[in-house]
Amino acid sequence: MADPYWYKDAIIYEAHVRAFFDSNNDGIGDFPGLTSRLDYLQALGVNTLWLLPFYPSPLRDDGYDIADYEGIHPSYGTIQDFERFMDEAHKRGIRVITELVINHTSDQHPWFQAARRAPAGSPERDFYVWSDTNQKYQGVRIIFTDTETSNWSWDDTAKAFYWHRFFHHQPDLNFDNPRVLDAVMKTMRFWIDRGVDGLRLDAVPYLIEREGTICENLEETHEILRTIRRALDERYGDRMLIAEANQWPADVRPYFGEGDECHMAFHFPLMPRMFMALRQEDRHPITEIMRQTPDIPENCQWGLFLRNHDELTLEMVTDEERDYMYQAYAADPRMRINVGIRRRLAPLVENSRRRIELLNSLLFSFPGTPVIYYGDEIGMGDNFYLGDRNGVRTPMQWTGDRNAGFSRADPAQLYAPLIMDPVYGYQAINVESQERAPYSLLNWMKRLIALRKQFKVFGRGTFEFLPAANRKILAYVRRYQDELVLCVANLSRTVQPVELDLSAFKGMTPVEMLGLTEFPRIGDLPYFLTLPGYMFYWFRLQPTPLPIAVQRPPDTVVARELVAESLPAFFMGVAWDTLLDGNVRTLIERESLGPFLQRQRWFGGKARALRSVRFVDWGLLRKGMHPLFLTIVQADYKDGARAARGRRGGRRGCRDGARAAPWRRAHHRRAKRTDRRRRRRRTPGARDPRIARSAGVAAHEARGGPSAPDSGVRRHPRQRVARRAADGRRTEQHIHRARRSPDREAVPPRRGGAESRRRDR
Ligand code: NOJ
Ligand code: CA
Repeated sequence: MADPYWYKDAIIYEAHVRAFFDSNNDGIGDFPGLTSRLDYLQALGVNTLWLLPFYPSPLRDDGYDIADYEGIHPSYGTIQDFERFMDEAHKRGIRVITELVINHTSDQHPWFQAARRAPAGSPERDFYVWSDTNQKYQGVRIIFTDTETSNWSWDDTAKAFYWHRFFHHQPDLNFDNPRVLDAVMKTMRFWIDRGVDGLRLDAVPYLIEREGTICENLEETHEILRTIRRALDERYGDRMLIAEANQWPADVRPYFGEGDECHMAFHFPLMPRMFMALRQEDRHPITEIMRQTPDIPENCQWGLFLRNHDELTLEMVTDEERDYMYQAYAADPRMRINVGIRRRLAPLVENSRRRIELLNSLLFSFPGTPVIYYGDEIGMGDNFYLGDRNGVRTPMQWTGDRNAGFSRADPAQLYAPLIMDPVYGYQAINVESQERAPYSLLNWMKRLIALRKQFKVFGRGTFEFLPAANRKILAYVRRYQDELVLCVANLSRTVQPVELDLSAFKGMTPVEMLGLTEFPRIGDLPYFLTLPGYMFYWFRLQPTPLPIAVQRPPDTVVARELVAESLPAFFMGVAWDTLLDGNVRTLIERESLGPFLQRQRWFGGKARALRSVRFVDWGLLRKGMHPLFLTIVQADYKDGARAARGRRGGRRGCRDGARAAPWRRAHHRRAKRTDRRRRRRRTPGARDPRIARSAGVAAHEARGGPSAPDSGVRRHPRQRVARRAADGRRTEQHIHRARRSPDREAVPPRRGGAESRRRDR
């Protein structure tokens, strides 16, 4: 069976069938269209797709007003189209979450039509919540404050009031009637039997009403959830329930139960506070709400999001915070709806790429499962002139062509107009153009998603804030098994310094995870970082590999032999084939390569002070236990020159910067060799092959065990092979002299079949 905790490692993508792709050109997205775009989602890296309601519906609440729980809206396709979509999604490793909207139905649902016509007290009537008066449950808040004035509406056929927490055309089901629960569980099985992996329980706090309460989060509601969960677990092993409970953290906690209610719940209060912290340039709103967030059972998970299909809800903030958010993010009153802001991610942050990246970095590294809202991965805009929340539900922008490539219908026929303004319009913002641009937001999102998926720590690890005097900086540590990650974010627009107490990680090396850059080892002092405006770092904290302390060979022959004998393993536990691809390369350069070069007789510039040396290119000539590399090394001197200049400068009869003819170069090489032989004759011990080896092997030999004497084979000076026997094995590594000058490109190693890597710094 698949991992039952798959939802902890999920990257969820929220999409609307009607907004994604129109396959039959009627202006409305559909299941065949969505199926045809699954490759896009797979390439993006998401592994879970959450679909908004696609059931038969009058669409007065965009499908949350369901008229038939077990059908497909004819505009979106057929049940066969749905089944094909499920197969294709699963083939690509994409799980699917659908909506189980059980609090209410459409007033067009046959259950409601039957209920209003049935006599009072009959089983049919009892499917909904009726009253002779609209004075019951006083004090219960109204959610859709812009359109509704009461939670009761009069039905002239029934001659009674019916209860509804949302639109008046969405009567609430009566969960005091066991037949309602049975019917709802039948629907749940219907979809799960068709392969659905998870169900979002819409509006779940409002299932039960009791006089004298706020009719939210009641114990009877939790009892219903436990019943649903039991039914799910008994029949299906690895399916997931996610609660939409827009409540304070302490009130959401019970929706996890003892791990026996919902597997997941959205973290509503965190979302507006991420935006608030960003605007205030102060971490407090985030740290405060995280402190108020209780622990959840081991098998449970938070669902995190920046934006979704609804308004950016401000129900779970204080009055002052709400005022602040309106001022900061919805100065134009048309951006506001109900108790929230109807805007997408990119317009909320004024299209600032750095702020989008920062918010996503928080979303992807906070404890929980991230949810991306369709279109936000390319920075789509919104249109608050459209009614209700439709401005954040416009067609997906695929290309700069007609209808953004979404549909071939007449533009007037589209279910909603496209975004067409110069900043966010589909000609400026679309998938096609961003796929072509390596540094587009889309490609950045792909990299972030891919990175997160490499580590379980983000979905499963513990979370701990690190104190920092600078409140513009948010720092936290995530841990899971041997994965240890430090995240640091600058919430302000300006560069910020921070000192972090990392003494708990003393001796470890932070490696920045997006660029694999090794940072200085953590020592005794507070760890000092500077972060440009809106910068964030994710560091993997790794045990520091112990480098050899490379020493200059002592003067006496005996002492030199001692060095040769005692050279320890270069690094323990590294993958030798990829030695130079990773962080070890920097370590070799820093610790060993310079000293090594300066001991080489063939190294022209050894008498001059080196500023830095680095591998500019390398090729793996032989894989396996005894790998062989060909490398090009660039040496920079303190006096500003580079190795290539020094070498040419040493070439006889050749003007600096000019290149001699091949026959002339061969002559120079012969002359140089003769020179060296002469010099060696004058140097005591220079002929001793072990001494040559002790100088050369330190930086470039890379096998463990004590050294053995070199075979003494002389090689071409520009391609010297250092040989070493270790535990009876031999390793060879070549060094190639720098052939780069400031005005000429480095010459890559030309060896058939060699895997070559060029670094870009
Ligand atoms: C919650 C959904 O997210 C929202 O879009 C809908 O309007 C309400 N439930 C009422 O159905
Ligand atoms: Ca269509």
